[in-house]
Amino acid sequence: MTYSRRNILQIGAGAALIGGFGFRAAYAALPTLKKKDSYKVGFAQTESNNPWRLAQTQSMKDEAAKRGWQLVYTDAAGSAAKQVADVRSMIAQKVDVILLSPREEKPLIPAVMEAKKAGIPMILVDRNVDQSLAKAGEDYAAFIGSDFIKEGNMAAEVLTKAMGGKAKLIELQGTTGSSPANDRKTGFMDYIKAYPGMEIIASQSGDFARDKGRQVFETLYQAHPEATALYSHNDEMTMGAIAAMEAAGKVPGKDLIIATIDGTKDAAQAILDGKVLVCVECNPKFGPAAFAAIAKMADGEKLAPRLVNTDRVFTKENVAAYLPEAF
Ligand code: AHR
Repeated sequence: MTYSRRNILQIGAGAALIGGFGFRAAYAALPTLKKKDSYKVGFAQTESNNPWRLAQTQSMKDEAAKRGWQLVYTDAAGSAAKQVADVRSMIAQKVDVILLSPREEKPLIPAVMEAKKAGIPMILVDRNVDQSLAKAGEDYAAFIGSDFIKEGNMAAEVLTKAMGGKAKLIELQGTTGSSPANDRKTGFMDYIKAYPGMEIIASQSGDFARDKGRQVFETLYQAHPEATALYSHNDEMTMGAIAAMEAAGKVPGKDLIIATIDGTKDAAQAILDGKVLVCVECNPKFGPAAFAAIAKMADGEKLAPRLVNTDRVFTKENVAAYLPEAF
């Protein structure tokens, strides 16, 4: 399926067909939420194969329990198609509101539009959808999450300074078509374009997964033994790459200087052990902010379309203090 403005067909009084999947009430108002004692909240997770996702889910469960609200939780197991089906099932179950972490930017558009058509408010948490196809504040209530471009930018800044502006980089990208993979690449490239000595010599997706990251890094490093640094879009792929480096008899932190993103316990420990130079935080604990936004909507308040988390930068100077709260 190709998604573009072209296949969003205007079909009459403000309705549009999105990529053949669903109907968009293009000019319809955003769904609202009635004030109640308790809510049935849907949370559509992308997958549960890493500590970041587990921490995000736990945070949602904890906040629902704290408020005495019902949580309808689904796990798309790494499939955008299943995640669309999960949202459809939540619509059929008539949840009051849906929290969605869209696995990829385009394939989840039908889920967003169908929730709007069904009159169910939706908040996107962590990842976003393609803003040329669906917009926060128009097609869904709000986006709450990190500034992934800034994360890539901050990783590039610390790495560039440490390398004296000169590196042959391997890049491990996140899930193809996801907003963090797209934006973390953009942010990194934006920063290094002023440093011609910072050269990406190989770049491929490791799908944000440890073992895939290990396999992809192994292949890229065998083809490019001249690499001096690694930029990895998340800590799980970084841990896989470190295992591959060590298996090849290399010393992470010396033979290759590493920049990574997330803030897992493993990455924080790897900084302490001298294996990782820098880890830019991406906080997965969305429960409090997401449920507070739902409560605000129920009070009739308009949400800011974009609520951005503040991410910290961890290096050997400050990581010990962070380690106890790492996930
Ligand atoms: O969308 C956030 C990213 O998704 C995190 O960096 C990663 O670990 C997760 O799978």
